[in-house]
Amino acid sequence: MPAPSPSAGERPTPTILGVGAAVPDQLITNADLVARLDTSDEWIVRRTGIRERRHLRPTETLAELAARACTDAVIDAGCNAAGVDHLIIATITPDRLTPGLAPAVAARIGAAHAGVLDVNAACTGFLYGLDHAAALIESGRARHVLVCGAEALSRITDHEDRATAVLFGDGAGAVLVGPGATGRGIGSFVFGYDDTLADTLYAERDAPKLQMAGQQVYRHAVARMTEAAQELLARNGVEVEQVDYFVAHQANARIVTAVADALGVPHEKVSFNVEWTANTSAASIPLALAAAQRDGHLKPGSLVGMVAFGAGFVWAAGLASWKDT
Ligand code: ACO
Repeated sequence: MPAPSPSAGERPTPTILGVGAAVPDQLITNADLVARLDTSDEWIVRRTGIRERRHLRPTETLAELAARACTDAVIDAGCNAAGVDHLIIATITPDRLTPGLAPAVAARIGAAHAGVLDVNAACTGFLYGLDHAAALIESGRARHVLVCGAEALSRITDHEDRATAVLFGDGAGAVLVGPGATGRGIGSFVFGYDDTLADTLYAERDAPKLQMAGQQVYRHAVARMTEAAQELLARNGVEVEQVDYFVAHQANARIVTAVADALGVPHEKVSFNVEWTANTSAASIPLALAAAQRDGHLKPGSLVGMVAFGAGFVWAAGLASWKDT
């Protein structure tokens, strides 16, 4: 589908048109972890809010999982993958070091003419993709952009380390972005980073297992996500009461609670999808959006606040009006 050429003064409003999600079928419950690690269901639930996570099997690929989420999003939007101009995949765990994930996913879904790009911005990657998609639509350089967050964190987790083994899961979520007319569409974003704290959360190329100073990450995650969300609201001229649903990166239910409380968002407006997915890094926000739509938390025009924080440190916040059905 060729990109439209907007006439002078006419800027398309970028809008989320469809959402999709996919998780592996291999379920790992807290009881499964308790059976082989020095931990307990009580500790995991109290400190993280996580009850279960899903892991890809060695024979399964992240590309297949991401393709399922992308296809879901295209169908939800009532569109056709052949009309996707760009596919942006946020991931830190592509199936191979190179090539990236996007070409394999585009080929699987039939996005034959799409530009294909992987983004590595850790847990904030999906929000970077969404901002870039919005800019492409707004400028008229593209008409339909698929943004997918996809992770196989089980492949970079030390499964013998109880401090991190309980935290991470695999999954993929996607949205199709295009010109629309719902509310304010996708608003302006806030981004930030602090490279001085990169050693508190990382994985090395030669020893690719996540290393984390949990308490430091926790403190900075709460502070930076709260500040970013406040700046986002101010920049978009929105009061916190006007936000209908709030999705923070699903790292830990205590982090999400602390950010929501600092902002003054009531918990019934907040996603706690981490309970079922664990931390899926770049996939966590689109997975939570898909779950929120499924569970009836998002109505046409609902104003959704999104905020993320991850390795780098990098953080981001964004605002979008939910799509028409
Ligand atoms: N089961 C039982 N005990 C455990 C476990 C476990 N799975 N893991 C650690 N412990 C123990 C520790 O050994 C420690 O024992 P000690 O007191 O005898 O030394 C005790 O529990 C407390 O450990 P802390 O690390 O202080 O526990 P804390 O309350 O900080 O919780 C946690 C740890 C959940 C990791 C928390 O720090 C956290 O959530 N941090 C942020 C993590 C995060 O969000 N990371 C990702 C962000 S970026 C991204 O998404 C990739």
